[in-house]
Formats: sequence, C-alpha cells, structure tokens
Amino acid sequence: MQAISEQKASAPIRLVDYRAPAWQVESVELDFDLGIDASELSARLLLRRDPGQDAPLRLDGENLQLLSIALDGTQLPATAYRYAGNVLEVDGARDGSVLETRVRLRPAANTALEGLYLSGPRETGFLLTQCEAEGFRHITFFPDRPDVQSRYTVTLRADRARFPVLLAGGNPDGAGELEGGRHWARFVDPHPKPSYLFALVAGHLEVIERDYVTADGRPVQLKIWAEADAIGRCHYAMDALERSMRWDEQAYGRNYDLDVFHVVATHDFNMGAMENKGLNIFNAKCLLADPDSTTDDEYRHVEAVVAHEYFHNWSGNRVTCRDWFQLSLKEGLTVFREQSFSADMNSASLKRIEDVALLRRAQFPEDAGPLAHPVRPAQYSEINNFYTATVYEKGSELVRMLAGALGQEGFRRGMDRYFDRNDGHAATLEDFLAALGEANDTDLTPYLAWYGQAGTPRLKARGHHDATRREYTLTLIQHPSGTAGTGARAPLPIPVKLALFARNGDMLPLHMDGQTSVCHELVVVLDQHERSFVFTGIADAPVASLLRGFSAPVILECDYMPDELALLLAHDVDGFNRWEAGQQLAARAYEELRDGSPGDSLHAWCDALQQLFGGTAVDDALLADLLTPPGEVELAERETAIDPQRIHDLRQDLQRRLAERLGADALRQRYNALAGHTSIALDASSQARRRLKRRVLELLNLLDNRGACELAAIQYRDAPGMTDRLAALALMVHGRAAQAEAALLDFRQRYAGNALALDKWFAVQAQLPGESALDRVLALEADPAFTLKNPNRVQALLGSFVRSNPSGFHRTDGAGYRLLAERLVALDALNPQVAARLATAFNGWQRLEPLRRASAREAIAGLEQHAGLSRNLAEIIGSVLGGH
Ligand code: TRP
Ligand code: ZN
Repeated sequence: MQAISEQKASAPIRLVDYRAPAWQVESVELDFDLGIDASELSARLLLRRDPGQDAPLRLDGENLQLLSIALDGTQLPATAYRYAGNVLEVDGARDGSVLETRVRLRPAANTALEGLYLSGPRETGFLLTQCEAEGFRHITFFPDRPDVQSRYTVTLRADRARFPVLLAGGNPDGAGELEGGRHWARFVDPHPKPSYLFALVAGHLEVIERDYVTADGRPVQLKIWAEADAIGRCHYAMDALERSMRWDEQAYGRNYDLDVFHVVATHDFNMGAMENKGLNIFNAKCLLADPDSTTDDEYRHVEAVVAHEYFHNWSGNRVTCRDWFQLSLKEGLTVFREQSFSADMNSASLKRIEDVALLRRAQFPEDAGPLAHPVRPAQYSEINNFYTATVYEKGSELVRMLAGALGQEGFRRGMDRYFDRNDGHAATLEDFLAALGEANDTDLTPYLAWYGQAGTPRLKARGHHDATRREYTLTLIQHPSGTAGTGARAPLPIPVKLALFARNGDMLPLHMDGQTSVCHELVVVLDQHERSFVFTGIADAPVASLLRGFSAPVILECDYMPDELALLLAHDVDGFNRWEAGQQLAARAYEELRDGSPGDSLHAWCDALQQLFGGTAVDDALLADLLTPPGEVELAERETAIDPQRIHDLRQDLQRRLAERLGADALRQRYNALAGHTSIALDASSQARRRLKRRVLELLNLLDNRGACELAAIQYRDAPGMTDRLAALALMVHGRAAQAEAALLDFRQRYAGNALALDKWFAVQAQLPGESALDRVLALEADPAFTLKNPNRVQALLGSFVRSNPSGFHRTDGAGYRLLAERLVALDALNPQVAARLATAFNGWQRLEPLRRASAREAIAGLEQHAGLSRNLAEIIGSVLGGH
C-alpha cells in the first residue's frame, strides 16, 4: 500500500494542546536489509497502553511503502488499518500487543537528508540516518515523539563487500556471516531512548580508536569513522572528545554510559552534528581538522561541536525533552555547557566576546523582526524551523543567568538534582527550574518569564553622584522589546554584574545601602520595572562598568560620555567589558561619521586604541578584537532606513581613521614583527599572533593597498597553514589586488580534492563587497565543485553571499533578492530544511530603505505565490512577509 500524501497546510501545533501519549513502546526490534536504491526493514513494537486513555493506536509514518503488517502474530486484513495523512491507525491493539510492520525505503532518492539516506556517490558512498526532530517516521511506523522512550535492538544485514562497516547506537551484541556474501551485526541499547536519537551507518569507512576509562571505572572504546581520504584528519577531534569526557566528569560528575562511543563524519548533512545515542554523526566541517586545510577559528569550532554533542549524552539523551516546545531544555543547556568547557580550554574572555558577538549578529536580529519567538515557543508549524539562534544561543544565556544566580556550587548542586531526578525521563523547563531551585531552597520561577516572551529587553541605566553625601545612585529601568508579544509586560529578573571605576582607572570598593561586607564587583538583580541602588563612600563621580561579562541578554542604554567609555576601554579588567566599551565607543564614532560630524567619540576611540596598541596591557588576541568595530549587520540593527552599501562605506571610513591614527609605519612594523615567528602551533599565543597579524594587515590595507597586498601575496606563498593562507587570500580578493586572481587559481588547484577547503574559496569570493559580488556568485555556480545538493556548498556560496555580504546581496536593482528567490525554489525541491534556513536571510527587509524594500518585497511575495513550496519554506516566507 502506498502512502496517500496530503499536501494540505497543517494547523499549527500548540504547547497548550499537549497530551501524554496514549501508547508507549516498551521495546522495539528493528531488522534492516540494507541497499542503496532500496532498503527494507521490519519493526517489532511491544506496546503499552495508558490505562487512563482509550485512544486507538496511531503511529506516525511519512511516505512509507508498507509491505506487510501483523498484530500479535496475525497478518492484518486491509479493513483493520488505515494509512492516510502520514498516520497509520490500527484496530484491535491491546496493552502488551506486538505490532510488526515491514516497509521499503529508497535511500539514494532521498535528497532531503532526513530519515535514511546516501552520502556520496551511489557506487562508493555510505548509508546513514538523521532522525531529529521527526525523521524516524521516514524510516518506520512509530509514535515519533520524544516522550515515548523505548529499548532498541537493531540488526543490520547487508552485502559485506559494499557495506563492510555496520553501525547502530548502543552496545555491539554479535555479528557474523550470511549466505551470498552478506553479513550482519546487532546492537542493543540498554538505555530507553526517544526515537529521534536512533541512528545507523553502513558502508566503507575507516576508523581511528582510543581506549578510555571513565571516572567511575567503565572501559570505553572511542571510535571515529570517516571515509579513507578524511580519516587522517580525525585526530584532533579524538583529542577534543577525550577532553570533553574528562571535563564532564570533573565539572558535572557525569560519566559516559555505554561500552563504545562512535562518531562518524559525513559531507552530506543539514546541520552541524547530531547527538544520536552512542553514535554521534557530524557534518565533516565540524569534525575534520588539519593545519593545511583548517583555520584557527575552525579548530576551536570542531572542539566546541565535539563537546556539544558529547555533553548531550546527559543533557538531552539521559534527560530528554517532553515535547519539542522544550527544545531549549537540551539545546540551551548544552550550548551553555559547551561554552563553559571552551572557556576552560581556551581564553575565557575571548570565548565570551565571540559568543556575545554571535548572539548580536544572529539572535538579536531574529528577535527584532517577524521571525521573533520565545525561547520556548507557544506554537509551531514546522519544528525544523525552530532550531534557531533564539532556542540555542539565547537559551544558553538564560541558563547562564540561572547559574549566576545560584553561584558555582549552588548550580552544581542544582544540576545534580536535575540529572538525578529526571534521569530516563522526558522533562520540561519547569522541571529544570524546579530542580535547580529546590536544591538551593530558592524560587527560580520568576525566570520562567524569560522563556515565554520574545524580543530583546532594553535596560536603561542612569548614574547620579552626590558629592556632599559621597553617594552614587544607579537607577536601572527595563523596557520589553516591541516583539515581546501581548501579555508579556511583567518585569523580568535582570542580573546586572557591576563595578565602579575611579577616574584614575582603579576599581572602587562597593558599599551598598549600609551593607557591611566590601567587594569590588557585585550582582544586583533588577526584578521590577525600575529600581535605584545607592553606593556610599564615593568621593568623586565614578564610571560604572555594567552588565560585566554580559550578565543578561539585554540591550544596555547608558548615557556615558565618550571619555568614560574610553576609560573603561583602557582600564576595565573584565576583558569582555573592556571590549564592550570599545564597541560602544566605535558605534558612536560611526554615528558621528554618518551624521557628518566626526567628534569626541571618534577621537576617544582612536586615542584609547592607540594607547593599547603601543602598550602591553592586553594580549594580542584581545587587541585584535578591540581593533575591530561592530560588524555591518550589528550597525544596521541600530538604523531604520537601512542602506547596506552606505553602512559598508562608513564602516570602512571608520577603520581607515583608526588606521591613520595608528600610522602606516607602526602597522607595518607590527606586521613584520608578528610575521617573523609564524607557525602552525595551536597554543593560545600562536593563535593570538595570527589573529592580530590579520587585523593589522587589514588596517594597513586601508592606508596602503598596494603595500598590504604585496605583503599578503608573500604571506599567501609562505603560509605554513590555512589560517595565514586564507587571511592573505581574503585580503587580496577583497582588496582587489592585482595578485588576487593568480592566488585564487592556485588555491582552487591546490585544494581540488578537498571540499571543505574549497568551501572557503567559495565563501571568500561570495563576500566580495559591493555590486560585483553577484556576477561572481553566478560564475561560481558553474564551477564543477558546486552543487545545490550539498548543504555545505550551498552555505559556502549562497549562504555567505546573502548573510555575510550585505553590500553585495542588497543591490539597489534587487538582483540579489531575485537570485535568492530563484535558488530557494530549486533548493526547496531538493532539501526543504536547508531552503528554509537560507530563506531567513530575507528577515529584516521591512527596515531597508524604500527602494530596496520594494524590490525585496516583490521577490518574497513572488516566492509566496509559488505553488508546491514545502511546509518548511512556506512557514518562513509567510512569517517574513506577513509580519509587516
Ligand atoms: N540536535 C542537534 C544538535 O544541536 C542538531 C539537529 C537538530 C540536527 N536537527 C537536526 C542535526 C537535523 C542535523 C539534522 O546538536
Ligand atoms: Zn545540540
């Protein structure tokens, strides 16, 4: 029987409609006969009925070809079940019934990369699965929801020559030969799990292995699998995995819980990676690393993603989500755990700067427009569209606030309680807050409000100094964002970490409202609309360093004078706030230029940076970040009639003025000093030198284009690793150097067989500023290495163009918008998840200047009219357009 596919627009799914499942699956046995074009599988489900409900047995199943169905050993007649609208309804099931189905799947024809699919060419590629969020229903009939948790026994059968490696989640439980050159392997997972954590992999793969013993004494075999040409690039990931496992034991007391831990790399993947129980699957770009093809930033990213997926074993797998509205329960928490790990492994303040910059670049714009949604959305149409910066990054910020409120020991106590109490269960955000609170005898429910409202709150701060009373009064006021939604006007608890600086740059001791204990930094929580805090014993007007470490995800508005920001930039020992003061000052300097009146902010910014550039107060990496003003996307966020070309030009002008202040000679000298001892070493100071060297050359390029490009050409030629090579290539391409085309050709040939390296070649060109980028993109689409079928290629070329090149994408003639709309239609037919994500680049069109706004609207409206869009893409287009 064939599925009757119904293309009707489905009604949104609402959190308030949640009902516990009427049927559980106690155990499931899956038997696969694997083949590239056709795979068949039998599923045997032991069913448990909730005695309190009497709903018929309904199972999810999408586009499944049902070959046979039996209940309690008896084949069912066609009258005893119905399969329509992606639901299989079966009559006659009782508590303890066993349902057996057999279906046929078509992996090679699956271009959506959801369910069972083929990675690589038909002849040599391998089979794998992706189930989160709702891919399991593309594999077999099942109650495909995370609050159904089952024990899995999985048997794989396949031709041995074509599929020498057979893997599934859980512990290995036998393997052997079959007739006709076939073989089998079985895996049993002792931990009940939701269906979205199921995974299998089958094909030609190489392996590297390491023995590990957990803190509680369990020997574990760590195995990383990749295709032959990639296995040599897995060693760094293995080290990162071991570091992650040790860290989770020490920081959270969490041990791994199976005898094997498999990790697999694939080039065909919709997202970064997936935490399937015992069988993590990674997009190759988040796993493979070697000095010749991987930049420093990418090395840190690999370490972070390996850690993220590993940490899910507790925050996500052992304790999972009751429903997809609770997604941030596992994602926000796991991002927070990863951020803490990365801070411990690398420079903590650089990590914080990087994460907050990402939040501002990706999450703030999302939260400020028609795609805004709470960290826990109230409804969705397509769950895959809710794997957003809000759920992940803002979700992590919320956990950070909770951790801050409890302190390190209290948070650990709360996490122990959370894991222990919810182990093996499907939990909610309320369960999380309750466990943290109860373990600390405190009520954290006020923080729930953060999970329920969209938008970035604004925090206004005013300081007043009374010289005669020697008092400093800090008044804090909060305002919800315009996208917060109705009924969201209750004040949020906003923790504000602060310090006060004297004019000589010293931190002042803090005496608040007669409290006796003295400290130099403290946290006040603004839990009402407005509140004032009085500090005594302050002789002269101080400068307040607020929201240190970015203690809450808000937009701070404070009436600093330029020299006050310059003081913080020069003296704040909180690396994040030092950077933040510089960003604020740079944004004001930018506004001065925009308004045609360069003044105090510009001077203060340049002066302070010149001081730091000549001194030794900050390390090379922080200096590089301090010398970088807010990006074009962030600057656009502050405006209403956005002209991306003008923003680009003004930002260039701003940087040119900074470069002038530093001076071409000083920049050249610094560059030469840094270039003197370049290497591929990954230690912090080597990475820092490369980072600063890149920044210094970029600034020099604004004063002496010829000279900088000559240095870049030499740097490109002599680069010992990818960080230096790519930086030099980007500088030449974006600086329109005479040497650029030769370097591009060289790079193209050098990395002809290395898709991940070629992605950087695509991205660099797609980010060429200005109108000419579009023709480049069109030409590059014809390169034989480009294909719409691979998500990484799409991201490298089209994603870089529409997301990381505002002045290129937002052409005044609207050609960028038309290109995106056309490609979205083609892409949607292949891979709806990737198309929907790319389409979010249209977000924010309402705030463009009128000319661009009109052509963007036209392109989006045309797309909306297109027949047969996927639910994924239709939902994004509908929201982006409709939120007018
Ligand atoms: N849970 C994964 C993670 O955060 C991400 C994920 C969700 C995913 N859906 C996916 C990965 C679909 C690949 C495809 O680590
Ligand atoms: Zn995750």
